[in-house]
Amino acid sequence: MNSSKPFLHGLLIACCLASAPVVLGQENTPTAKPWMNKKLAATERANLLIAQMSQEEKFTILYGYFGVEQKEKNYFPPKEALYGSAGWIAGVPRLGIPAQFQTDASLGVATQNIPKPRERTGLPSGLATAATFDPAIALQGGAMIGQEARASGFNIMLAGGVNLVREPRNGRNFEYAGEDPLLAGKIIGAQIKGIQSNQIISTLKHYALNNQETGRNIGNVIMDESAARTSELMAFHIALKEGNPGSVMCAYNKVNGVYSCENDFLLNKVLKGDWGFEGYVMSDWGAVHSTIPAVNNGLDQESAYGFDKAFYFGPALKEAVDNGWVAPSRLDDMVRRVLRSMFAHGLFDQPLKEAAIDFAAHAKITQQTAESGMVLLKNADGILPITKNVKKIAVIGGHADRAVLSGGGSSQVYGQGGNPIKTPQDGIFPKVYHPSSPLQALRASLPASQIEFNSGEDVAAATALAQTADLTLVFATQWTSEAYDVESLNLPAGQNELIAAIAKANPKTVVVLETGGPVFMPWLDQTAGVLQAWYPGTEGGTAIARVLTGAVNPSGHLPITYPADTNQLPQKIIAGTGRKNDEVPFDIHYPEGATIGYKWYDQQKLTPLFPFGFGLSYSQFSYSKLTAEWNKGQLRVAFNLANTGKMAGKALGLVFAQPTAAIWEAPKRLVGFARADLKAGANKNVQLMIDPLMLAVYQPQSKTWQIAEGDYDIHLAQHAMDKDAKVVRVHLTQQTLDIKGNLMR
Ligand code: BGC
Repeated sequence: MNSSKPFLHGLLIACCLASAPVVLGQENTPTAKPWMNKKLAATERANLLIAQMSQEEKFTILYGYFGVEQKEKNYFPPKEALYGSAGWIAGVPRLGIPAQFQTDASLGVATQNIPKPRERTGLPSGLATAATFDPAIALQGGAMIGQEARASGFNIMLAGGVNLVREPRNGRNFEYAGEDPLLAGKIIGAQIKGIQSNQIISTLKHYALNNQETGRNIGNVIMDESAARTSELMAFHIALKEGNPGSVMCAYNKVNGVYSCENDFLLNKVLKGDWGFEGYVMSDWGAVHSTIPAVNNGLDQESAYGFDKAFYFGPALKEAVDNGWVAPSRLDDMVRRVLRSMFAHGLFDQPLKEAAIDFAAHAKITQQTAESGMVLLKNADGILPITKNVKKIAVIGGHADRAVLSGGGSSQVYGQGGNPIKTPQDGIFPKVYHPSSPLQALRASLPASQIEFNSGEDVAAATALAQTADLTLVFATQWTSEAYDVESLNLPAGQNELIAAIAKANPKTVVVLETGGPVFMPWLDQTAGVLQAWYPGTEGGTAIARVLTGAVNPSGHLPITYPADTNQLPQKIIAGTGRKNDEVPFDIHYPEGATIGYKWYDQQKLTPLFPFGFGLSYSQFSYSKLTAEWNKGQLRVAFNLANTGKMAGKALGLVFAQPTAAIWEAPKRLVGFARADLKAGANKNVQLMIDPLMLAVYQPQSKTWQIAEGDYDIHLAQHAMDKDAKVVRVHLTQQTLDIKGNLMR
């Protein structure tokens, strides 16, 4: 939420609207409510209800209020809105239409910047969940946060961030699910399914191409249709098919010259037309710029009118309908879409009731997600796991004595006990830590070791401690937040120098990274180990200790590529950087187009610091018996995963396809993946049916997807640059897929 956006006078708006909603007495309340018949389809129920609604009642459910006062703008939220929440949309009691209570976001029930936040369970970063490559874990996390949302009085969760990590410096990458459309789509789709299993609505956001925070309100992404459909739109489409979200949130930025929230191509043509989305489009907070173009081009609900420059879906919408600039049928379509999702996802049938939250059970879920998503990047000479006989351990930096870091912005969850580390707030969002101490957890699991902490503020003192230790753990942090991109991928505040000094003093140094995404590691060769812990959530300290000590075998794999230096990035400088006037639009030409992440590194023949998919284990795995069969447009891939090490662990098989002749946006694409939980010595045969869409190329003229006849190499790999990947060749015959990705016979 960018609270620096121009804000209209809330009370003024509230006063003018007083003439809008018609207050109907009890006598007007219909006794029979046929739309409450659960046996009817959601659309039918919505239609029955619309037939009973006055025009004023229809308008009521098409705009919302933000849940926090903006004193400087004299805005005070209505008393019904849950304080500190993202939004509230009035119901229509006469007809039994429930109010909509909205909360952010994908990591848990968030609280906007208020003195007394709600304390809830926070999942680790979206990137951590993506790093599990396990939709079942995303589903479980989604179900948990959705349960907390419902129990906290919310029936809409603004989750489902599926924007692809195109720009590694993007401040919101931690909310998303990585750089690959298949992985991101599957993970976010599963998360949405989990959230909605609580009879509430989840969004899918931010539609579309909202891949950087720099100039997010005015940046204009220029991208051709095929590139967009092969990358970010593909991620949205997969998440939509998997998760069936009730709502899609359109983004702040423009796409090809048109704001996302009034973009006929994105909203009407692709989302509602090609993909057949029957739910409603809500705007991001402050992303609406018009009434008639927005409505006619597909926006259904103005989320928080106070954040927009004007109240576009208030009196202006009524005027537009009265004058025929917006057809009555479109007004009904907007209302139908909102109501249909409310019926389809249980908002009518399962009224909200605040309930107790089982924090102990939920702590286990976030801990398990964090443990499954941490990525072991380096482990020289098996320095990890830490054994019980290590006598002295130095723990340095990152406030590891008390807490773990979280990412900032509207998605901010506060854990039980709030924020233990108060730092001065220099932007619009606070920097929040979760009170889960890695140091305490390490001490609890290694009672025989002497474990000492140093804050790292004084390099000499930290180095002196490291010199006396048998093992040093340095906790390095990088805070990233909504509304800002990071200036560079270097760890801030002298941490690179601190790590280098410590590693020099004690080569047995392991770095634990709590970062929003990739960072450069100039000290990599000097250190013995690196664990990417992401922002590990409200049980992060425990999870880190369990991975370091081997109570859990690390099994996360990078859902993003780690660049070796800035020169490898497609955008050397983030478009819009240094712009003073936030009102002067600028274009963003992402040079990589559809060739995101590992695809870019493959195509440009660059060697990253760590490739997509990379992740070590305390065990070893072997990959064998790869076969690929093409039968009537279906590609079946089978292989065996075996644990050849001494410890139980999870193997990940990544399946990439590489055409020998057909031209794709990149040499190869991820077309499938599978995990196997394997005891030491165990193995498992895996079979994957590859979605034909993953093998196809978009044809804008015919609006179809084509699989070109020819030979394709199928790789079974541990990561995107795996020289030991197993490869088989398969011949595919020409196939046409319709716009939804279904094979046409
Ligand atoms: C963010 C959205 C969020 C909304 C409501 C916006 O600033 O971009 O992701 O859901 O605020 O808090």
